[in-house]
Amino acid sequence: MPSHAPTNEAVFAAALAALRRGEAIGLPTETVYGLAADASNAEAVRKIFTLKGRPADHPLIVHIADASQLAQWARSTPESAQRLANAFWPGPLTLILKKRDDVPSIVTGGQDSIGLRCPAHPVALELLRAFGGGLAAPSANRFGHVSPTTAQHVRDEFGAAVPIVLDGGDCEVGIESTIVDLSGVVPRILRPGRISCAELEAVIGHVETSAGYDSPRASGMLEKHYAPRTALQLLSRAQAVATAREQGALGKHVVVLALATQPAGCEGIALPADPAGYAHGLYACLRELDARHAHLIVVERPPDDMAWIAVLDRLRRSAAGAGQHEDDAT
Ligand code: TXA
Ligand code: MG
Repeated sequence: MPSHAPTNEAVFAAALAALRRGEAIGLPTETVYGLAADASNAEAVRKIFTLKGRPADHPLIVHIADASQLAQWARSTPESAQRLANAFWPGPLTLILKKRDDVPSIVTGGQDSIGLRCPAHPVALELLRAFGGGLAAPSANRFGHVSPTTAQHVRDEFGAAVPIVLDGGDCEVGIESTIVDLSGVVPRILRPGRISCAELEAVIGHVETSAGYDSPRASGMLEKHYAPRTALQLLSRAQAVATAREQGALGKHVVVLALATQPAGCEGIALPADPAGYAHGLYACLRELDARHAHLIVVERPPDDMAWIAVLDRLRRSAAGAGQHEDDAT
């Protein structure tokens, strides 16, 4: 019996049955909600791509119950992977390793490598243990859109197309996992997240960042990602206030995502001025501001500081892709 949410026992059982039938479900993790399906079932994985509208060459992350399952997916487990798993799993860290030949190539978008992660969420872990195998799960949003951090966000994205969404509450971290590529000669961060480069280096020594940030292999690295439908600009606080006033005077509806406090006279939301608190609330705020159907979302730029690198990465990509979506498919 699931101990985390006795009232959801029936939903938990239905989710497990759906996964075994090869269906996709909404799954809470500590980072963002995932759209999960049986990673060993190519047909089930294909449904994820169809539901998301995700290009077939964009690899998925396989979620596992613990590091002992690495060998079921990875051809070999380098010592660096074992050390990082010991240090950070369950947790918001994805390891890219060489894949085993028997892993369906649809999971890895045709790559020779595979992304693996053990999520730190009681519902996800309980489901993974009960299921026994790996769950392929990208973020549960349509391709290019803002990642979901509540069960309701997942329902808003997919509606009846994904009838089972396990509700694990608000995601604690709020942005996607740090991705580190261990499949090459030098460890390399492909996507920044809660776990920093310095934290990784404390465990395995030098980790590259720069070149990997251009990698076309990580779809989160594309411009035009994590984007709301409303146009979005990243500005200093003074510029944000001036823009809101000037545009407002022209009859434009401008909303401001501010740091710590909302500037006087500006409509919007303020997020905490610490990186973890900000990341936790970021995607829900973007969705809420997007829902106001303003002409423009202005985001007050957080400090240009290493501690903010993961948040700045998401904001920059949101700005690059904002306002370019077609209307919701029904
Ligand atoms: O926090 C997370 O990682 C969330 C939760 C649900 O676990 N998942 C997530 O999945 O963000 P997704 O599909 O939205 O992003 C996965 C990223 C993509 O940028 C993908 O390209 C990259 O992982 N990735 C997966 N396998 C890879 C591989 N073999 N080589 C390079 N990048 C890979
Ligand atoms: Mg995603």
